[in-house]
Amino acid sequence: MADDHFDAAATTWDQEPGKAAQARHLAEAITTGLTLTGHERLLEYGAGTGLVSQALAPHVGPVTLADTSEGMRRVAGEKVASGLLPAGTRVWDLDLESSSAPDERFDLVVASLVLHHVHDVPAVLSGFRSLVEPGGHVAIADLDTEDGSFHAHLHDFDGHPGFDRRQLARWLEEAGFDDVSVADFTTIEKDRTPFPVFLATARRT
Ligand SMILES: C[S@@+](CC[C@H](N)C(=O)[O-])C[C@H]1O[C@@H](n2cnc3c(N)ncnc32)[C@H](O)[C@@H]1O
Repeated sequence: MADDHFDAAATTWDQEPGKAAQARHLAEAITTGLTLTGHERLLEYGAGTGLVSQALAPHVGPVTLADTSEGMRRVAGEKVASGLLPAGTRVWDLDLESSSAPDERFDLVVASLVLHHVHDVPAVLSGFRSLVEPGGHVAIADLDTEDGSFHAHLHDFDGHPGFDRRQLARWLEEAGFDDVSVADFTTIEKDRTPFPVFLATARRT
């Protein structure tokens, strides 16, 4: 799918019903599920406007956001400038499908509803593995397998209709992660249909 959709959606993203609440809910699930010290170097991949990082910021250390959409990165940059995101937050143009991982390390990599937009998920998970410090974690929230109706309104959606949890767990293990867990997280309501969302966490040993 082209970035145009997200470029256009960026300016009103945070006002869309449920988005900010869902981001706070995810931050809560991550802080409850993983024992954080408050010093973690956080990378949010496919961060959009950085809503999840905003909610996680009080619980972690330095924040880096990565997204392929120029519009999303612009809004995220404005939030750094206005203080909605912590001073010093970096905003990267990074696509781990087409580029290798930068030579940096993070203690926590979070991806919220981005992997279903990625074609080569194993390539991105292998990028995450390179970026995670041994002992660090990934936390991935995404859709369970659905019938394609979640993106029925997008004419050029060419990603995944959600994921089979066992397949995602296998991919995480094959990428080199341990302690893989995939659990119920929430549901997203669209056109009166509830779409289940899981939260997968794993550790690089
Ligand atoms: C559904 S939005 C989710 C945004 C944010 N994570 C949230 O939960 O509010 C998916 C985001 O992933 C980004 N994206 C799509 N493909 C990507 C890729 N290959 N690498 C990095 N970001 C990508 C999009 O630009 C978009 O901002």
